[in-house]
Amino acid sequence: MTEFKQPTVEEDVAGLDMIYREHILDHYKNPRNHGNIEHPDISFHDNNPLCGDEIKIEVKLDAQTHISDVKFTGRGCAISQCAASMLTEELKDKTLEEAKKITNQDIIGMLAIPISPVRMKCAILSLKVLEAGIYEYENKQKLQKVRITDS
Ligand code: FES
Repeated sequence: MTEFKQPTVEEDVAGLDMIYREHILDHYKNPRNHGNIEHPDISFHDNNPLCGDEIKIEVKLDAQTHISDVKFTGRGCAISQCAASMLTEELKDKTLEEAKKITNQDIIGMLAIPISPVRMKCAILSLKVLEAGIYEYENKQKLQKVRITDS
């Protein structure tokens, strides 16, 4: 059962200065890197338990460490979808180690609008999905190494 009603886009941009309103609406209406990747190295999906909104992030790697492509799909409030769009732009050409250094505060900086405590989960949903995806990928890599050295 959800405890938190998803705000409309209009509610999310209400009260923002025009420049910030356009920044959010631009990413909401034209999300960057939206879609799927064929045979991704990393694929993770999760939701915000408060509202049920969800994000899936897929990543393609070069040489197992360098992000060559990243895409997302999902549904949810303007804040969660804009943050995902901005995060995917930030990730292009980064290494996994660099991606792991992105913080909640970096996401707030990318959104560039005030985020109330109750909306923090919206803002950082895509980062949590990315972190979990990288964690799962790295664990699989470690297990494969163990299997190779054991055989
Ligand atoms: Fe669901 Fe924002 S209201 S993620």
